[in-house]
Amino acid sequence: MLRRRQPRPPCATFKIILGAIFISIFFYMISYQNDFDQLHTTEKIRCSILEGSSEDEISQLEDLNLKDCNLRSISSKIQHATNLRKLDVSGNKYLSTLPEELSFCTKLDILFASSCPSMKQLPQVLGRTNITRLGLRSGSLTSIDPNSIPPNVVHLILTNNQIKEIDNDEIFLKLQNVRKLMLSHNNISKFGSKGLEHMKSLELLRLAGNDLNDIPSQLWDLPKLTWLTISGNPVINEVKVQNKDVENLPSIPFNDLSPLGKNLGEGASGKVSLYKWNGKEVAVKIIHGVTSDGKAEDELAIYNTVGSSGVENRVVGCLALLDDKKKGIIMEPLPKNLDDFALPPTIEEVTADRWDKKEVFNASFVQNALTDAVSALHFLHSRGISHGDFYAHNIKVDRRTGRLYLLDFGASYLKGPYSLKAEMIEVRAYGILVDELTTLLDSKEGELRSKLKKLSLECTNPIVNARPTFSDIRSKLDVIFI
Ligand SMILES: *[C@@H]1O[C@H](CO)[C@@H](O)[C@H](O)[C@H]1NC(C)=O
Ligand SMILES: *[C@@H]1O[C@H](CO)[C@@H](O)[C@H](O)[C@H]1NC(C)=O
Ligand SMILES: *[C@@H]1O[C@H](CO)[C@@H](O)[C@H](O)[C@H]1NC(C)=O
Repeated sequence: MLRRRQPRPPCATFKIILGAIFISIFFYMISYQNDFDQLHTTEKIRCSILEGSSEDEISQLEDLNLKDCNLRSISSKIQHATNLRKLDVSGNKYLSTLPEELSFCTKLDILFASSCPSMKQLPQVLGRTNITRLGLRSGSLTSIDPNSIPPNVVHLILTNNQIKEIDNDEIFLKLQNVRKLMLSHNNISKFGSKGLEHMKSLELLRLAGNDLNDIPSQLWDLPKLTWLTISGNPVINEVKVQNKDVENLPSIPFNDLSPLGKNLGEGASGKVSLYKWNGKEVAVKIIHGVTSDGKAEDELAIYNTVGSSGVENRVVGCLALLDDKKKGIIMEPLPKNLDDFALPPTIEEVTADRWDKKEVFNASFVQNALTDAVSALHFLHSRGISHGDFYAHNIKVDRRTGRLYLLDFGASYLKGPYSLKAEMIEVRAYGILVDELTTLLDSKEGELRSKLKKLSLECTNPIVNARPTFSDIRSKLDVIFI
């Protein structure tokens, strides 16, 4: 007799499903554990490469990454790394110094030791190396011993430490080759009352978020200083916005904005996306807390001073401020078809923007670009603002016409008592753009080229007070492009 098969009771089905789930979780965990072990093993090999390699193998190393390895010390076997160019020991929270043997690494050029809070001083050995790029960001340095500064250092990053003063002739002598010096977010209350004049190569200086009550006059006279920020220091915080043109922009809560889900770009100090506000499309930049250039509240104060007439003056305009838990700026969207004018420098170029060398610009393009750029800078300076980071990589350009807009006030500062001096510094930045566009100018334009070359030399005059103002430059351009 055939018995009809009984359907399985629901409870048994449930057990089977549950069993299957357990089995798959089990296998998933085994494979995960394998991946994890493998990851762990490769990390172990990476972190103990000096201990685990022969002298010969070590001598072949050119780039050594010992980041986040939980190291307390670096093996003395590093002395064999005679071809080492780049070393990164960042993120080792118990690492307090670097070994003396590092001085045998005669090709070592780049060293990063950021986020190493146990490193209370610059390791002494650094003073006996040929390092040109040195980064110790987010550490706990409170002072700098001049003997520990690599004598050929060109790019020095000491952002976000607790340095109290840099006020010693010997330190500045050691910094005579420095082109880029990053000192924002320290506790510097004394800076360069003597010795500053040694920094003849200095082009870029970041001093935001320190304790300065005064900016020494020698700083403004440095022959090559081009990009400076001093925002967020008592001397600048005290500057009341005296400019009568200043608008008081509305401050709005984040809830007034509805996201339109389009990302418009990301800069050093924040992310820009498209939103709807008051029935129209706006570009909103949400500023992250602190960058190596400055703080959110300082950037908001700058946008408030720029106001809503930016776009017609070739800078990004500001319609309202977001001064909520999130900080940000509500901007008029810029026209479409705009590109970054150039790419920012890397650690190799130090301060020079990267251009597409194959690009050729004609006279009308260069005329539009230089005219718009000087309009933007003239406008900002007339409102008491120095941009601080006037670079082609902070410019959006229409590649068909050369018409452009200046963006990104992350390093901008209210000039207060330093109005003319700060302008002379930024004129040098303009002179560099003139020079770069002259290089890329159509070779048929010989006469224009020599006129522009002369303008760029005037703007970069090592005698700072002899440079033209932006207003002078506008008249000069009218003559050059008749
Ligand atoms: C620095 O570099 C020079 C050659 O460029 C070399 O002769 C010298 O030994 C190096 N010094 C140190 C301390 O690395
Ligand atoms: C250093 O500056 C930071 C941030 O600006 C501040 O929180 C800290 O209290 C200062 N430290 C000293 C010792 O002044
Ligand atoms: C200059 O170059 C731009 C962009 O390549 C082009 O659109 C424009 O027609 C050129 N103008 C002249 C006068 O050649």
